[in-house]
Amino acid sequence: MIEKNKERFGRIGFILAAAGSAVGLGNIWKFPYITGENGGGVFVLVYLLTVVLIGMSIFLAEVLIGKKANSDTVSAFEGLATKGGHIWKAAGFTIFIGMLILSFYSVVIGWIFHYIVVALTALPTNMKEAEEAFMTMLQVNWGTQLFYFSLAMFLIAFIISQGVKRGIEKVNLYMMPAMMTILVVMLVYATTMSGFGQSLEFLFSPNFEKFNTSSIIVAVGHAFFTLSIGMAVILTYASSIGEDTNIVKASLSVVALDTIIALVAGIVIFTITFSSGTEPGKGAGLVFITLPALFYEMGTVGSIMAIFFFISLAFAGLTSAISILEPMVMYLENRWDMTKSKATYGSAFVVYLVGILALLANTKDFGAILTIGSKNLFDWFDFLTAAILMPLGGIVIAVFVGYFMDKDMVRDEVEPLMGSTFYNLWMISLRYIVPIAITLVLLNETGIWKI
Ligand code: PFF
Repeated sequence: MIEKNKERFGRIGFILAAAGSAVGLGNIWKFPYITGENGGGVFVLVYLLTVVLIGMSIFLAEVLIGKKANSDTVSAFEGLATKGGHIWKAAGFTIFIGMLILSFYSVVIGWIFHYIVVALTALPTNMKEAEEAFMTMLQVNWGTQLFYFSLAMFLIAFIISQGVKRGIEKVNLYMMPAMMTILVVMLVYATTMSGFGQSLEFLFSPNFEKFNTSSIIVAVGHAFFTLSIGMAVILTYASSIGEDTNIVKASLSVVALDTIIALVAGIVIFTITFSSGTEPGKGAGLVFITLPALFYEMGTVGSIMAIFFFISLAFAGLTSAISILEPMVMYLENRWDMTKSKATYGSAFVVYLVGILALLANTKDFGAILTIGSKNLFDWFDFLTAAILMPLGGIVIAVFVGYFMDKDMVRDEVEPLMGSTFYNLWMISLRYIVPIAITLVLLNETGIWKI
């Protein structure tokens, strides 16, 4: 007998929590810098196309599985498969993808905590100083990083241990509106700055120079990462969805919100960058090196903005991080009969240990032994999860709903909400477009077959 979830989200609770999961460091930290690295407009276009053609379908498929199963990931695949339930249990591997992501994701949340303190005390006064400060934190002062990383992991575990309603739902209820308000205020201010037009042009007009086939992999990987799909997270949240929630509307709202927030963050960050004549292609340091120095240059407004910016980034990161751990916690509770707190702190501790490796991989002291080939462990975890494992998880979801769930059950639940034309398109997407497109991308990435 499959254990059912006891707690349920309130009316907008699911949308807020799922949006909390989707909107994260991916939107505010990663999207702007990878857009910068890959030349802007064309990259944004490929990313948007992936979100609409592939991401949206998988998102809805995950919500459907979760709602129908009302249980943990493994039980969901096992219980809903029309054939081969015991084999489908293996789709539970997706839970581990999250654990790997969380290990480096919370390291970055730790950096953000540190930068809230920097913004409150003293911002670097120029770009050189900013770069030195970030590099010193990253490569030398691993004690500082470890401190903030530990704090982040503890907070994440604590929130989850409070349960779906008192923990996850409540935190999202406060942090999401706060984060969005801060971004909107920054956007309004950005419209008054000189780099606003250039920023829009950079994001929305195609520049093919820096774009190449590996940019496609990055764009597709990011579409998965930013929507939190392909790793049982949305599925797990949806397993606590309210009975009467319209899953199509909810999915559309979350995907739209996620996309809009990424674009807003991009516009704000590039406006600040262009306004001071700086280059946008600065890589992962864009938010931690370029922005702090520019905030300082902007005087009082900039200093206040810096504080709120890093707070909003911390909120975005935390609401995502809690969603990443929840699938494992729910699985351990349901299938291993663990108490919530044991399941939470136990799995958080495992992530913590792996995270320490990711953290040390960036340091001078340990970098060499934690580097394999061209990348260190931190970069490997990031690359493997976003570019390979999450897309793989996406195929699993698409194939499961497209071929292995009860057809009538799927149709009855979804068709009335979107009409038969869209329903048929959705099915075509799940059965053919997603598996074929993602397989091509993966083959290309692994070098088995090149475009
Ligand atoms: N979607 C989050 C972001 O854009 O930051 C990151 C993330 C959350 C990835 C949950 C994966 C996940 F399952």
